[in-house]
Amino acid sequence: MNLNYEQLVERINLWNHAYYVLDNPLVSDAEYDLAFRELLALEADNPELVTPESPSQRIGLAPIAEFKKVEHGVKMLSLANAFSLQETFDFFDKAAKELDVSPESLAIFSEPKLDGLAITIHYQHGVFSYAATRGDGQIGEDVTHNIKTIKSVPLKLDTDTPPEQLEVRGEVFMPKAAFEKLNRLAGEQNTKVFVNPRNAAAGTVRQMNPKIAAARDLQFIPYGIGEYQGEHDFTRHSDIIDYLVSLGFRRNPHCYAFSGSFAAFTDNYQQMEQLRDSLPMEIDGIVYKIDDLATQIVLGFIARSPKWAVARKFPAQQVTTQLIGVDFQVGRTGVLTPVARLEPVFVGGVTVSNATLHNMDEIERLGLCIGDSVEIQRAGDVIPKVVKVVEQGEDRQPIIMPEDCPVCASPVARTEGQAAFRCTGGLICAAQSAERIEHYASRKCMNIVNLGTKLIELLYSKGIINTIADIYKIKLEDIATLEGQGEKSAQNVLDSIEAAKTTKLSTFLAALGIPEVGEGGSKNVAKYFKSLPAIQAASVEDLLQVPDVGPVTANSIVDFFHDARNQAIVADIINAGVHWEDEQHEPAQAQPLAGQTWVLTGTMAMPRHEAKALLESLGAKVAGSVSKKTNCVVAGAEAGSKLAKAEELGVKVMNEAEFLAAFRF
Ligand code: IVH
Repeated sequence: MNLNYEQLVERINLWNHAYYVLDNPLVSDAEYDLAFRELLALEADNPELVTPESPSQRIGLAPIAEFKKVEHGVKMLSLANAFSLQETFDFFDKAAKELDVSPESLAIFSEPKLDGLAITIHYQHGVFSYAATRGDGQIGEDVTHNIKTIKSVPLKLDTDTPPEQLEVRGEVFMPKAAFEKLNRLAGEQNTKVFVNPRNAAAGTVRQMNPKIAAARDLQFIPYGIGEYQGEHDFTRHSDIIDYLVSLGFRRNPHCYAFSGSFAAFTDNYQQMEQLRDSLPMEIDGIVYKIDDLATQIVLGFIARSPKWAVARKFPAQQVTTQLIGVDFQVGRTGVLTPVARLEPVFVGGVTVSNATLHNMDEIERLGLCIGDSVEIQRAGDVIPKVVKVVEQGEDRQPIIMPEDCPVCASPVARTEGQAAFRCTGGLICAAQSAERIEHYASRKCMNIVNLGTKLIELLYSKGIINTIADIYKIKLEDIATLEGQGEKSAQNVLDSIEAAKTTKLSTFLAALGIPEVGEGGSKNVAKYFKSLPAIQAASVEDLLQVPDVGPVTANSIVDFFHDARNQAIVADIINAGVHWEDEQHEPAQAQPLAGQTWVLTGTMAMPRHEAKALLESLGAKVAGSVSKKTNCVVAGAEAGSKLAKAEELGVKVMNEAEFLAAFRF
């Protein structure tokens, strides 16, 4: 071919762009392979020539040891959801009112809502610098090694005048065909099968070794920018998209510009709904954005989402299939949940072969037997569920709860007056152990920050931790020798276990995962008895004196502490140094909201349990529904019926910022 190194790089990148971005191959696979091999040979002989934009650099990175945290200069926000045309229209009608214009005068830009995960990619002087996940919107994880393998992501922007800084934001997803292929292979090789393309994409992006991502077909489509230092003065969002496409990115198919009338939203929605199944990628809705950037700035944001864009979500999809069996899964608190095994059926781009049945009462309510034809429903990332029996099977078999736990063979029992059946194996049941350990270490409980679900599962599968007490026996080398871990991260885990030894009695009680004893119950019990020995010695009658504790909870606590295995585990934990201040001695807090009832609704930036704890620490009771007795409703983004009810009843409403300003800072 007689091209020099730079020309060869440019040529291969041009072919890549044609193939992976434009879906328009310019050469045969053989010709491409030949050029690529020539490039590799040239680079092997002249390593000093290798540039960051060389196509060889996509898979050249070594596996990483841990995900580095990345702080986003410009927050990565989420979108409010609309579940009907009316809600969509109302969203922009509200924006129009704020702007004092008619909704019809708003220029709307619609984009398919790609069902993957949000990624941001930084370019410096036109060259790929690093990529990160959204994380909590403020801090994400560095996933450069995997994002570089995506061939529709340019390593160098296609422009002679690159911006000094450009942060491209968009969705990484797995096309439907690639997902089917991946799962077919996983089935053959007996490896992990993914539930849907989004999970497959997320699972791939979170791999330590970039070779795995390189072997899977991920794609990236941008939907906006973050930080930008360049010469363009964009006036419309759609100009930004055109600019990104000119730089070498893929264009989201089927984007439209129209005015914000009800009829226009209706037409657009109907059109997209019809197109949905024929698209090569999963979409879970349509994103509508106000195109004019100056208007976007005027409207700004509420909580975590912009007031100029909304995600119109597609409704659940339903199909009919046959119930071929029922398995019973054992959860953290020992509850046996029936899971429907279905004749595999394709719905919304995914093959579904399992669905939740909740409990035996639900099976009875549905009148369900094995062999029946059933209607199943799938909505976004929600686990599919059986909605109804469409036709009874000819040779239908009743669904029977097993007498013994399918995991540990302990007897299964049903508590009087409850829907749930439970394994009585307590902390010895393997199914309960791993989940109990995760619950114990979680942020809401002991808050062992560096001991996450994945690590627990790994340590559990290797037999290093079998019960919650074993957490305190973990040694540095137990972790440091695991794949993807090093001494430093192992030490971080041990440090966080140590730091979390100082806790509160109520937190410890909740962390034990005693059936029926949640956060609220634990607080009441700890406040009443004030010490662990007093709780351990309490009878059902004693426990019934505690506010809001009924017979079911009281019996559950007594059963738990009377079990010798549980006693041994609790004693081991205390001997390992877990301790708390006597709650009697906790400094008395001002309780300005004593006697008040508050309701939290919508999506808030602050985790819901933290907002609840904050309100409770101020003396308020947090209720689940709005009534005339409600003192105040804190409404986050996407607040719906509860907010409407509060407005109807004239109950005071605060947004999250007002709430925080009043009580947090
Ligand atoms: S715009 C300021 N456009 O949906 C908000 N998001 O539910 C920027 N998504 O986190 C998002 N397709 O990961 C936007 N065409 C699209 C999208 C899209 C998919 C995802 C994105 C976002 C999530 C919000």
